[in-house]
Amino acid sequence: PGIMEDPVAGGQDDQAAGRFARMWDELAAIGDGGARGYRRFAWTAVDLELRAWFRAQAEARGMTWERDRNGNEWAWWGTPGPDAVVTGSHLDSVPGGGAFDGPLGVVSAFLAIDLLRERGVVPERPVAVVDFSDEEGARFGVACVGSRLLTGVLAPEDARALRDADGVTLAEAMRAAGADPAALGRDEQALGRIGAFVELHVEQGRALVDLDAPIGVASAIWPHGRWRCTFHGRADHAGTTRLSDRHDPMPPFAATVLAARESARRLGALATFGKVGVDPNGTNAIASRVDAWLDARAPDAATVRALVAEVTRAAEDAAAGHGVRAEVTEESWTPVVEFGTGLRDRLAGVLGGVPALPTGAGHDAGILSAHVPAAMLFVRNPSGVSHSPAEHAEPGDCLAGVRALAAVLADLACR
Ligand code: GLV
Ligand code: MN
Ligand code: MN
Ligand code: MN
Repeated sequence: PGIMEDPVAGGQDDQAAGRFARMWDELAAIGDGGARGYRRFAWTAVDLELRAWFRAQAEARGMTWERDRNGNEWAWWGTPGPDAVVTGSHLDSVPGGGAFDGPLGVVSAFLAIDLLRERGVVPERPVAVVDFSDEEGARFGVACVGSRLLTGVLAPEDARALRDADGVTLAEAMRAAGADPAALGRDEQALGRIGAFVELHVEQGRALVDLDAPIGVASAIWPHGRWRCTFHGRADHAGTTRLSDRHDPMPPFAATVLAARESARRLGALATFGKVGVDPNGTNAIASRVDAWLDARAPDAATVRALVAEVTRAAEDAAAGHGVRAEVTEESWTPVVEFGTGLRDRLAGVLGGVPALPTGAGHDAGILSAHVPAAMLFVRNPSGVSHSPAEHAEPGDCLAGVRALAAVLADLACR
């Protein structure tokens, strides 16, 4: 009783609020970057602390803890096995990340199970909490590494060879963290166990604010990708090199940023240059090289492709005008995700008609949706800000999320 009656109502449940706050504060203390936000990158010391926290949460509940061959962490309520109802998200972050993107889904998963156990719910299917490895791709450049490897859409040899900004490969980082990169690869057992996956996530825009709704479900994820744009120039002296003699990669890079912005506006897409590397990065030297990463997204793949074609042309044209060579290479691509209506309708039925929203943000649920029934619950974010320390969700909405997730898990696990 209770959870099924009004699962999405905001609540004044002091006991649940206290439990949420305690668990949240303990997790929030791991890798705290203060005002600059979190930097919880895969296979770093902070990541190992997060993984240890996850394991401790599992063990404190008497759940079976496992790490799969791709570094994803699992906590099982009941015997691990097929046709499981799986929930969870990720614990890693972008540079300068907020507290909610990822962790809210993992904390809510444990608390939803606590709620079901308290209510005496006995699941007929195994129920598991998962923490997917390296969702953000902040360190090695490819997002959702754990779920891509598990489902086989990322080849293990390609994953092992990914490098971070210091030239450390994913394989080396895993070994340094005590994990075995040789085991990476499509995981039939782990995939075969997932009967349904429901990922709860903080909303990363303002749709729920505008709709005055604490909870929503995902309808679709826009196709998106990452492109590395390299401008090869020639280092020289800032004070003695005539403008006409320069091969300066910076002006064509700047022109490309502006061109991308204009193309995105005209095509109805999103284009972001959020990461740049300048070599050698000296004030009084013309740069020899600029590496910049284009993140491009749109409601359909053709629009993303058109945007990238325009940006590539703009980069090449601007580079040619400066005696510079431009090179644009695709580093990752994620096709559109339309969340199947079967599971989504079932969620909507349980939750009593919550809004369905598309999102431009990528998620492990999107990767899994090509292989198993997958769905997402979104929790309202008052400012809509995400990938920033300003990311937020109100405690009442977080509790509504836990109750909604509990109701969904009960419905799925008890048939
Ligand atoms: C991950 O959050 C992404 O969408 O980039
Ligand atoms: Mn994110
Ligand atoms: Mn996320
Ligand atoms: Mn994400």
